[in-house]
Amino acid sequence: MDKINTLRPIEGDGRKLFIETYGCQMNVGDTEIVVSIMQQEGYIYTEKIEEADIILINTCSIRDNAEQRIWGRLSEMRRFKRKKPTLLIGIIGCMAERLKEQLTEGDLAVDIVAGPDAYRDLPRLVRIAEGGGKGVNTILSLEETYAEIAPVRIDKNGVSAYIAIMRGCNNFCSYCVVPYTRGRERSRDAETIISEARTLFENGYREVTLLGQNVNSYRTGDVDFPALVKAVAEISPLLRVRFSTSHPKDMSDELLQVMASMPNICRAIHLPAQSGSSVMLEKMNRKYTREWYLGRVAAIRHYMPDCAITTDLIAGFTDESEEDHKLTLSLMEEVGYDFAFMFKYSERPGTFAQRNMPDNIPEDVKTARLTEIINLQNKLSEQSNKRDVGKEFEILVEGTSKRREDQIFGRTSQNKVVIIDRRDHKVGDYVKVRITGCSSATLFGEEIE
Ligand code: 5AD
Ligand code: SF4
Repeated sequence: MDKINTLRPIEGDGRKLFIETYGCQMNVGDTEIVVSIMQQEGYIYTEKIEEADIILINTCSIRDNAEQRIWGRLSEMRRFKRKKPTLLIGIIGCMAERLKEQLTEGDLAVDIVAGPDAYRDLPRLVRIAEGGGKGVNTILSLEETYAEIAPVRIDKNGVSAYIAIMRGCNNFCSYCVVPYTRGRERSRDAETIISEARTLFENGYREVTLLGQNVNSYRTGDVDFPALVKAVAEISPLLRVRFSTSHPKDMSDELLQVMASMPNICRAIHLPAQSGSSVMLEKMNRKYTREWYLGRVAAIRHYMPDCAITTDLIAGFTDESEEDHKLTLSLMEEVGYDFAFMFKYSERPGTFAQRNMPDNIPEDVKTARLTEIINLQNKLSEQSNKRDVGKEFEILVEGTSKRREDQIFGRTSQNKVVIIDRRDHKVGDYVKVRITGCSSATLFGEEIE
């Protein structure tokens, strides 16, 4: 029927792709790259899973409960396949990398398995699956950055976008599976990053978040991270720049000086501490001590007194004593984090910790410590919000408030959500506001002239 299109189906030939994304922001960015690659092959992205001819699940391995959720989801996929026998199911991302054997064994519903560096190969893997085989590629690369692939923005707020600037991780924190699932660290060519950011700005985007597992160790040729952030921020004063995740060891004064010199680089630094005990930090192979970390926090406050600091913390890592745990609590108080992601230690197969320092903290102790950490952070977050009441901020409007149509929400440079009356504002506007009140999670504000 369609003779012209023998090599590549034209867009709109009817096959529909649905992707479900789990895990970190990097995965969200990867999903946008996968959609781009599959669109080139003629697939149309759909938001309705029932319509899909192929379902891809972009997976996370960071903790056991992340993987358990995906196993659960996978067993539900059989139901979809029963309804539509031609449906293809693909597992992509970290779990695909880690568990390729298990995922292709037995009568699981999986047709395609693609690791984080194998996405360009997806069209071929899909063809194998269409022919009744299993399409598997989990080869990790030293170079792949998907540099020239234009991600397809499927979130559609049209204001903020992620830009992956580097991939992989060389840090080998002893508890972490990421260096094994995402491979070695490599940075993407700076020109492609800057031109992607410029195109986004020209298309109405007002905020980009530069992403990497260890974003501030970015380097290509003579462009290091401070130089890259500066170049992106110079595109326009109306373009906000964020970045995540920073490793404390690479949080240089030079970066802080660049940030302080450009108001459109957001006043928010996510600086995972993991623990407040230097003994634990050593066992975690974090490459810094509590004192050194606090020195970096002092430097941030010195250059940018209004900068938000957020963190990641792990409760109950191997050999963690009550005293170590108390040091985490005191670090939290000392820094006064604005927000934190808090986790129980989950032993991951193949990591240094799993091989050399078996998990020896009982589950109930981990739970009790995590609860203490969460309770303290709730108090600190509330204090942080209360400190903002009466202050003035500029927010970037992102959407309509969930509760009320006549209200909109936006974020401060510090990354806090503020709700204000809509008036005639639209998504993408900058609005100057004064904070009039707060709940534990949200600020409420009024527009000022
Ligand atoms: N167990 C619990 N939390 C972990 N993280 C990474 N590996 C583990 C693990 N094995 C946390 C760290 C990291 C965040 C992304 O996930 O806090 O910063
Ligand atoms: Fe994992 Fe550490 Fe690399 Fe972060 S820096 S991805 S915690 S190994």
